[in-house]
Parts: sequence; structure tokens; C-alpha cells
Amino acid sequence: MFARRLTSRLLINSLERTNRVLVRDFDKPKQRAAQRALELVRDGQVIGLGTGSTAKFAIEGLGRLVQEGLTVKAVPTSIATEDLAKQLGIPLFSLNDAGVIDITIDGADEVDPDFNMIKGGGGALTREKLVALASVKRVILVDESKLVLKLGQTRQLPVEVLPFASSMAARLLTDLGCPTSLRTQAGAPFVTDNGNHILDCSFGAIDDPAELEKRINLVPGVVECGLFIGIADQLVIGFDDRVEVRDRST
Ligand code: 5RP
Repeated sequence: MFARRLTSRLLINSLERTNRVLVRDFDKPKQRAAQRALELVRDGQVIGLGTGSTAKFAIEGLGRLVQEGLTVKAVPTSIATEDLAKQLGIPLFSLNDAGVIDITIDGADEVDPDFNMIKGGGGALTREKLVALASVKRVILVDESKLVLKLGQTRQLPVEVLPFASSMAARLLTDLGCPTSLRTQAGAPFVTDNGNHILDCSFGAIDDPAELEKRINLVPGVVECGLFIGIADQLVIGFDDRVEVRDRST
């Protein structure tokens, strides 16, 4: 009898432990990073708004600040971000109308020790790169799972291509040394906000991302590639219990 009760207790303890692990809040590090990044925002600034589940926390936080009286203009990097920002009452401008952007806050799929990144998991890479390039300061929010020694270790590299030339681009990208697959959604090709398709490229660990970016950009039909080289100025890394801010060494 006693042995049976002891076994049940041990089983319950083990289930409770498992449950605690299962209910780990994966959003917490993203929220922490977003919160810290918003401390960089100043009244009157033009803000680039990134895309994805991490950037979403920053946009929601910015919405709260705007409701409390902060005056900013924002440039969205996707239609999803634009819709969210509109709902939150954040004043929006197109990239063409905004001029120079003071600070862009975005997420990333992978970041290497030199702050080079793979982006485009959400398919917004082209607008994300353009908004980042128009920005004085680029702040990238990640949790520690995004930090890698070499890009391509955990993610495929998204490349946005013109639908008209997607098969040719896929063949030429395969010649660069990687199998490619056309991204799909609900059984049809995924269509970006720019009306293009995405080829996800399995390069594996990339030794020279800057050189690869140049070669990909020469492929006919390629609109933009998800390698972001020398773009991130600051990383805000959310952990379960803290936030770390790292500046790119120049
Ligand atoms: C979208 C992106 C995102 O920034 C990237 O995919 C990270 O997304 P998340 O914060 O949801 O992990 O590049 O095109």
C-alpha cells in the first residue's frame, strides 16, 4: 500500500516537473527584448517597424506609448505590420514619404557573431531590408535560439524572386550549391507583399555570407535575398530571466 502511494507521488512529482517545462513561456524573452528596445525611442522620431512575432511585441508596446502621448511617425515593413500599427493608432508613412528613418526595430531568423543575419522567415525580407537601409540605427530583437556561429545552420535562406522567372532563378540558385524549394501556403505558391515568390535555399552553414549575397543578387529574377550583411547595429537579446544589449563592433 505504502509502496503504491510512494510510486503515485513520484509519478505526480515527475508530471508536475514536466508540466513546468512544457509551460515555459517562449514569448517572455521576446517581450523583454521588445520592452528594452522601446527605451531607445524618442519623441518626434521616425521609427521603422519590423515584421514577425518578436517585432509584434515592440509594435504593441509602441502603440501603448503613442496612446500615452508619444509623438512618432512609423514606416511598416509589411502589410501585416501596417494593419497592426493602424489598429493601435500609430501614425504611418510610406518609405517614400518618410525620408530618413531614425531607428528601425525588427526581428531576425539567425544572427552570427558579426551581427550578419538571415531574415525573411515571414516573407517580408525585401521591405525589411529597404527600411533598414534607410535607417540611421537598426536594432534587432532576438531570443538566444537565434544566435548561431554560422548563418544557415538552423534556417533555410529565403530569396524573393519574380514569379515570371522563378524556375530559372531556382535552377541558377541550385547551381550556386543549394537545393531550393518554392515556398507554399495552403497548397499555392506563397505571395509576398510585393507580389513575388520566395525560394527557400538550403545552403547549410554559410562560410562567406557577404560573398554569397553578391552572387545571389546577380541571379536573374532575384529581387532580394534574406542575407542582411553589416546591417544590424545593435542586438537586444531576450533570455528567460534577463535582457542583454550588444553593439556591433565597428
Ligand atoms: C520576417 C522576418 C522576421 O523578422 C523573422 O522571420 C523573425 O520572426 P520571429 O520574430 O517571428 O521569429 O524576417 O520576414
